Amino acid sequence: VKLAIIGGTGPEGKGLAYRFAVAGGQEVLIGSRNRARAEAAAREVVERSGHEKVAGLENDEAAQQSELAILTVPASAQADTLPALRQALRSKTVVSTAVPLSFRGGRPAVVAVAEGSAAEQAQALLPRSTVVGAFQNLGAAKLWEGDTPMGQDVVVCADDEHAKQQVMALAERLRGVRAVDGGPLSCARYVEGITALLLNINRRYKTLAGVRIVGM
Ligand SMILES: NC(=O)c1ccc[n+]([C@@H]2O[C@H](COP(=O)([O-])OP(=O)(O)OC[C@H]3O[C@@H](n4cnc5c(N)ncnc54)[C@H](OP(=O)(O)O)[C@@H]3O)[C@@H](O)[C@H]2O)c1
Repeated sequence: VKLAIIGGTGPEGKGLAYRFAVAGGQEVLIGSRNRARAEAAAREVVERSGHEKVAGLENDEAAQQSELAILTVPASAQADTLPALRQALRSKTVVSTAVPLSFRGGRPAVVAVAEGSAAEQAQALLPRSTVVGAFQNLGAAKLWEGDTPMGQDVVVCADDEHAKQQVMALAERLRGVRAVDGGPLSCARYVEGITALLLNINRRYKTLAGVRIVGM
């Protein structure tokens, strides 16, 4: 598949691009508001991964050329970014990785979103696309660490069964990732919230903590 990573020049987008490049089997299109920034990020990922199938484009071109898109713009930027991509992302599966966070007093906390979650907000902003919540708990530093097994679960939430299965299969292309069906898109709010918890745990334990669902 051709994967677009919208806003892929930040640490999370580059981290996912790196892991998907290493996994092979998909072409990765890193999107940005600025083509030169996208190209620089793509070069970085090619160098780190040793895989060539990574390119940098403007967000709308990446969206247009993709078969599936992953959103890695900050939650607070979705309202400004997504309406312009409606046509390019029409009828496509779109993955929401966003966690609406504030860092008041230096402490990560979840910010309330009127739609219930960043993923549901993305769905409201992209009514003709099928939004799936996933990857919110995979930290950028762990993704970028190298080709080490992630050893983590990705909880996938969606209302559309086909899109959910598609993203679960995609998640499991990442080394050491198990995909877990987290139910409907409205459950994405709980997954997003776990990231605020993980960031607090990481700070206390000076580590890169992740999620594993047990007892399944
Ligand atoms: N960092 C993590 O460890 C982590 C973990 C889990 C989930 N996430 C989620 O992943 C997403 C990306 O995280 P990040 O840390 O990589 O974020 P980031 O660096 O703050 O932003 C990612 C990219 O989004 C674009 N962007 C920033 N502000 C924008 C705006 N106002 N309008 C349009 N585009 C804008 C920028 O790309 P250009 O300037 O090149 O356009 C930027 O490089 C976030 O939603 C975050 O909640 C992050």
